[in-house]
Amino acid sequence: MISITGLTKTFGETPVLDQIDLDIAEGERVVIIGPSGTGKSTLLRCLNFLDRPDAGKITIGDLTVDAARARKAEILGLRRRTGFVFQNYALFANKTAQENIMEALVTVQRLPKAEAAARAQAVLAETGLADKANSYPAALSGGQQQRVGIGRAMALNAELMLFDEPTSALDPEWVGEVLDLMRRVAEQKQTMLIVTHEMQFAREIADRILFMHSGKIVEQGTPAEIFDAPQDPRLQRFLARVSG
Ligand SMILES: Nc1ncnc2c1ncn2[C@@H]1O[C@H](COP(=O)(O)OP(=O)(O)OP(=O)(O)O)[C@@H](O)[C@H]1O
Ligand SMILES: [Mg+2]
Repeated sequence: MISITGLTKTFGETPVLDQIDLDIAEGERVVIIGPSGTGKSTLLRCLNFLDRPDAGKITIGDLTVDAARARKAEILGLRRRTGFVFQNYALFANKTAQENIMEALVTVQRLPKAEAAARAQAVLAETGLADKANSYPAALSGGQQQRVGIGRAMALNAELMLFDEPTSALDPEWVGEVLDLMRRVAEQKQTMLIVTHEMQFAREIADRILFMHSGKIVEQGTPAEIFDAPQDPRLQRFLARVSG
């Protein structure tokens, strides 16, 4: 169970997250949509303190953190319970695919190296990249790099996987294989919070869709409710725009 209450973040004078409340059930797949600059990435990044929230409470499993007075050990605890998939992959250029996956297992989860290597190899097999274990990111296609990025998050066995526009930096030809891998992650009943502009994919994979606008969740519902019967005029305008 994930529970977020009163999550607030301001950059300078600009409020970016305005009292966000959100509960996510175990195994639930929640997709966030909304216009650029409304705080979608910031929401994801605040959950593991890549951005530090100003206020609010975050519960992931057995850990509850009060953002305003979070201590180092609690922040590490949130990071242990979340896997993050970045738009730009964020792989270490000087590490192989396998070493990229091992990194957090060794440094954050404190696994012995041999165990981390074995888990990385198992994940590479699951992502269809067993033969790329010793390749550096520069020798991989965009789609392969992002599959390593997803594998790195899968390897953590995290309670929550966060995806921030995982396909939007990809050439169109690589989008399909990355979405396929996300479908396989979903089949494992992994709890997922996904920001995406792939509306067809959102409709297919989401249990629930959140529409964010100006730092707030202004509407939420099933894919059918959001796409076929949107209520808020801002959501109606957004959907009209993205469907061209
Ligand atoms: N590190 C930062 N410093 C200052 N302002 C920031 C920072 N990161 C984000 N912002 C601002 O916060 C607001 C929300 O940004 P965020 O990246 O969360 O939006 P988003 O919904 O993910 O947009 P997009 O769809 O373009 O990715 C924007 O106005 C952005 O300019
Ligand atoms: Mg963003």
